[in-house]
Amino acid sequence: MSSHVTLTLDPAFRVAPVRRRTFGAFVEHLGRCVYTGIYEPEHPEADEDGFRKDVLELTRELGVSSVRYPGGNFVSGYRWEDGVGPVEERPARHDLAWHSSDPNTVGLDEFMAWVKKAGVEPMYAVNLGTRGVQEALDVLEYANAPVGTHLSDQRAANTGSAEKHDIRMWCLGNEMDGPWQIGHKNAEEYARVATETARAMRMEDPDLELIACGSSNSQMPTFGAWENTVLTEAYDVVDMISAHVYYSEKDGDQASFLASADDMDHFIDSVVATADHVRAKLKRDKRIMVSFDEWNVWYQHRAESRPPSGDDWPVAPVLLEDIYSAMDAVVFGNLLISLLRHSDRVASASLAQLVNVIAPIMTEPGGRAWRQTTFHPFALTSRHAKGEVLQVNIDAPSFENQRFGTSTSADAVATWDEEDGALSVFVVNRGNAEELSLDADLASFGDLELVEAVTLHHEDPYAANTKDAPDTVAPQANDTVRLAGGRLVGTLPAISWSLVRLARPTA
Ligand code: AHR
Repeated sequence: MSSHVTLTLDPAFRVAPVRRRTFGAFVEHLGRCVYTGIYEPEHPEADEDGFRKDVLELTRELGVSSVRYPGGNFVSGYRWEDGVGPVEERPARHDLAWHSSDPNTVGLDEFMAWVKKAGVEPMYAVNLGTRGVQEALDVLEYANAPVGTHLSDQRAANTGSAEKHDIRMWCLGNEMDGPWQIGHKNAEEYARVATETARAMRMEDPDLELIACGSSNSQMPTFGAWENTVLTEAYDVVDMISAHVYYSEKDGDQASFLASADDMDHFIDSVVATADHVRAKLKRDKRIMVSFDEWNVWYQHRAESRPPSGDDWPVAPVLLEDIYSAMDAVVFGNLLISLLRHSDRVASASLAQLVNVIAPIMTEPGGRAWRQTTFHPFALTSRHAKGEVLQVNIDAPSFENQRFGTSTSADAVATWDEEDGALSVFVVNRGNAEELSLDADLASFGDLELVEAVTLHHEDPYAANTKDAPDTVAPQANDTVRLAGGRLVGTLPAISWSLVRLARPTA
């Protein structure tokens, strides 16, 4: 069976410029993300600093722009100073958040060395769970102050260079609204400590980009009220408010899972509405932006997400090692469409996480590294989203789902690089029943040529990539797509994600 989806695109449907920071990721001291993920000195592919070169290469191929570090729930019990200085003198500690042990072999300086090799921007989270203003100022001094102070001189001695780390984006804690968080606070308590931390950090450097914790997800009982309270107090001293979300197929309800991006749209719109309400209340000009600094598909109820317990405090246990299916990648690609569509207010985003832990890149200790299904929509969107983000007008059949009611079976966004004459259309068929005949009106772009059309789809929506079959699910050329008289036509299989690239003909 086949139905039609009609897309109307126009260079005038401009949302905002594509922001590179939309393509951020996250490295937490959790499971095997750091140890045997980015860092494994014993690995045959390790470089002189112990970083896996295969992982670095895949990180570059993924097109990651920025990386949040060191947590996550981990950060709320973390002492940053444990991770600097001579490695043999660093203390091993219990990480209470994930019931693991951390040898602290990797800390801030190692992360910054990795950041340089990966060619990404760092985003650093301070601990506002067990710690406060002073420790945030200390790590800021250590990272960013020019040599000549106690802690910046320590940094220079430890790194052998006077160069500052110069971290611009700082998260003021992590998920402080969540009762699971070490040092969890109510909105008033968090608003106080976040405001005072931000104010003090700005005394050191007024140009830092500071991110207050928003809600851990939109289902939190305090969602909305939390943002209101926090921003009412912190409005003048922060730039962004965070949002986190994880989706999964629950109880076999494919339809609701496939419509997850509707929820992300609504979530972002609600955070923006709350921030703008505070703006009106306080009579301010400045707008608070959203830092969507954790998002992904995550099957939280599965055994692989259960931390160790009792006397077992392993280093780098196998944790949150979700294996992603073709359908997960389609939902994931649709979440990126939602983030791009909100580029006017989402100033930064971080896919949680980068390696092994709910990640697009998987590794085996001492062995191979490979791409999960979700790697592909991320890499292609990061590589080909250029210029201005364009809203796409969509006329498609709808489908009913338990969680969100009615959703359209297609979703899309486009980017247009006027200078290079390059148009990229990102489109999903998120219906699980039938293919869609695509018909897109591109007349207002003038003369265009088709560069390529690729589709990620598998007959079995639960097919996945493994270390032995790493290319089971990967984008394939979609030969049904062609240009006919200013219209783009083709077929989008059920449960698929596609990228169509077009360009102005060269003279
Ligand atoms: O990304 C995994 C965990 O999810 C993070 O540690 C936490 O911030 C969130 O709940």
